Amino acid sequence: MLRRDFIKNSAFTSAGFAILPSGTLYADNRKVKIGVIGTGLRGQDHVELMLKRDDVEIVAICDVDEGMLTMAKKLFSDAKKPLPKIFTGSNYAYEDLVKMPGIEAIIIATPWEWHTPMCIAGLEAGKYVGTEVVLGITMEDHWNVVNTCEHYKGHLMMLENVCYRRDVIAVLNMVRQGIFGELIHLQGGYQHDLRGVKFNDGKTPYSSGVEFGDKGYSEAKWRTNHSVKRNGELYPTHGIGPVANYININRGNRFLNLCYFATKSKGLHEYIVKKGGADHPNAKVEFRLGDMVTTSISTANGETILLQHDTSLPRPYSLGFRVQGTKGLWMDVNDSLYIEDVSKPHQWENAKA
Ligand SMILES: NC(=O)c1ccc[n+]([C@@H]2O[C@H](COP(=O)([O-])OP(=O)(O)OC[C@H]3O[C@@H](n4cnc5c(N)ncnc54)[C@H](O)[C@@H]3O)[C@@H](O)[C@H]2O)c1
Repeated sequence: MLRRDFIKNSAFTSAGFAILPSGTLYADNRKVKIGVIGTGLRGQDHVELMLKRDDVEIVAICDVDEGMLTMAKKLFSDAKKPLPKIFTGSNYAYEDLVKMPGIEAIIIATPWEWHTPMCIAGLEAGKYVGTEVVLGITMEDHWNVVNTCEHYKGHLMMLENVCYRRDVIAVLNMVRQGIFGELIHLQGGYQHDLRGVKFNDGKTPYSSGVEFGDKGYSEAKWRTNHSVKRNGELYPTHGIGPVANYININRGNRFLNLCYFATKSKGLHEYIVKKGGADHPNAKVEFRLGDMVTTSISTANGETILLQHDTSLPRPYSLGFRVQGTKGLWMDVNDSLYIEDVSKPHQWENAKA
């Protein structure tokens, strides 16, 4: 395909981006008033991006961690923007934030278990809600969010950013032009070595120590406990979001059946022993989450989908996308090899070299 044609045909997808980052949402220079719940590492990313915009005003932030709030406040002073109202002191301080007069929209970037109640509180208060992935923990959580949204005729978006990745959008454009023919099989997942995130005492930004829970920093405080207590596809949306767009799920197609298998759990324990020694108290922790969780899904339109959740073993990052049709396929990793302590950290080696 000629590059010129590709760019011309891609114009519809890039137009939105061209308008959004630098322009303004309103002709009369009005600003959208936003509250951010959860100003940990991800919430700070959102704050930093919004502080760059002239059509958005962050009027309130909420967190329970003094250190994270201090880091977030510094972003406002660095950007020379007015400090927002702070809601803190209780896990339920967000209930006051959502009712603050003037707030139109809220962004939620808290641990997973808080997303459902925070989404519901935002919808009940009549706000636009954007939430970090995932929407909830149980099926009931998800239905509660959907039902509340329908009841209040609310607007809620799960902020699945991978749907907007440059290559993912380019492939969506190619799919819509029929370049892969009729789609047959798709793969994706969350394949990200999170050992240095799940165990982090905060002394260095990444990969420090083997602590988690109360002694952990950022996601080590809460995410690791999901690996202790739960076994399953804990984080499906980075993979399934783009895949669902490729095959028009809920736009004429739908998921039909699902089955999943989980492997044994070895990676997190081995990491603790390697970094902290066999006598470290965390070496006794039993993790329920299988190192590799593989989910197969069938669709009404006859495609299959394979999702893989792989966050406890050494590997460089890749979401493992594969989009395969009657005329060809796209895969985002090829001919690649990686051996811990032999390969350069987090870098593929060419398996054919
Ligand atoms: N889309 C992506 O690519 C991406 C990347 C990173 C994280 N995330 C998601 O963002 C969310 C936050 O992750 P993170 O990395 O920022 O974790 P984090 O632990 O750094 O931040 C979470 C923050 O929420 C705060 N918090 C906890 N309970 C609260 C409550 N009841 N009220 C107010 N604040 C509360 C914590 O004190 C912490 O500061 C998670 O859902 C995570 O999966 C998504």
